[in-house]
Amino acid sequence: MAEITFESFGKTKDGREVTRCILSAGEYTAKVLTLGGILQSFQVPAPEGKRDIVLGCETPIQYQEQTNYLGAIIGRVANRISQASFVLNGNTYPLAANNGTNCLHGGRRGKGFDSVLWDAEEQDGNLVLHYSSADGEEGFPGRLEVQVTYSLSAYGALTLNYQAESDKDTLCNLTNHSYFNLRGHKFGSLEGHRLQIDAEEATEIDDTGAPNGRIFSVEGTPFDLQEPADITVQLEKSHPQLELGGGFDHNFILGREQQNPLQLAAKAWADGLCLECLTTQPGVQLYTANFLEQTPGKQGAHYDRRAAFCLETQGWPDAIHHPDFPSAVLKAGEKYQQTTVYRVVAEK
Ligand code: GLA
Repeated sequence: MAEITFESFGKTKDGREVTRCILSAGEYTAKVLTLGGILQSFQVPAPEGKRDIVLGCETPIQYQEQTNYLGAIIGRVANRISQASFVLNGNTYPLAANNGTNCLHGGRRGKGFDSVLWDAEEQDGNLVLHYSSADGEEGFPGRLEVQVTYSLSAYGALTLNYQAESDKDTLCNLTNHSYFNLRGHKFGSLEGHRLQIDAEEATEIDDTGAPNGRIFSVEGTPFDLQEPADITVQLEKSHPQLELGGGFDHNFILGREQQNPLQLAAKAWADGLCLECLTTQPGVQLYTANFLEQTPGKQGAHYDRRAAFCLETQGWPDAIHHPDFPSAVLKAGEKYQQTTVYRVVAEK
């Protein structure tokens, strides 16, 4: 599939070596770090030459000094667990409250899957990352062995295959938190981006950003992206859910169970490029970078609010507290397996 090379990406604050793994296929190049499994750069062919369409940083320390999860693998549980606690098999598991009263994206700053060092190796032209999460890490039960495989094709498909297995019943909901700007990572706004999401419904959030358990129909709201719509135009519309999220920060419902085979979840277009997102996951979090604020990035860039969008394919957030949401429980010995593809081609 891809040609893979490895190079040093410098050291973390506490002196640990970070490797950058470079996947090349045809005119595409993806750069992935052992720190957080971060997609640091995704260069794609564009009318003017190569264009880097993901936000990222220049050094490990730059990543460690921000809290935006740029490009990172998120785990054990993507998005929010309300009240930072859950009950499983009669036991209560307290978690870190790192987002108001909620637990966001796996736990404390510097401790989630976005900030740990992953082992990396090449297998048959794919990049295989592995992380072993200890029993009790960030409060979650069971030792979780996690493998995320990045594959790149010469046709512009970057595939992430997530696998995990635990020795005790636990929660598992993995995603990738790439911020895309199809006009280039430094472009600075979402102007000129059209987006389509194949979802009739989304989960409502409360004023902490966690689902309140209700599901709403997107019909007649700015959330109706079933036909391509200009993102900045949608963001200007008024809707109580957009106000609560400070923009889009919502789980769009793709299905009530795993999508097999892969389904097309979303498409985005801007300036000659088209991004397709396909997934086996039952949900996708559309997040319009509402919290970026002068975040230092690559090539001296400073990323501001609404400078990008994320399509975080996922199980529905806070599922453990909503029995009618698809379950995020991973039973001991069962295999967690999900696939997401981001494919970038010339605009059609
Ligand atoms: C997710 C969340 C957002 C925000 C970002 C990270 O998209 O839903 O609310 O926390 O991650 O900044």
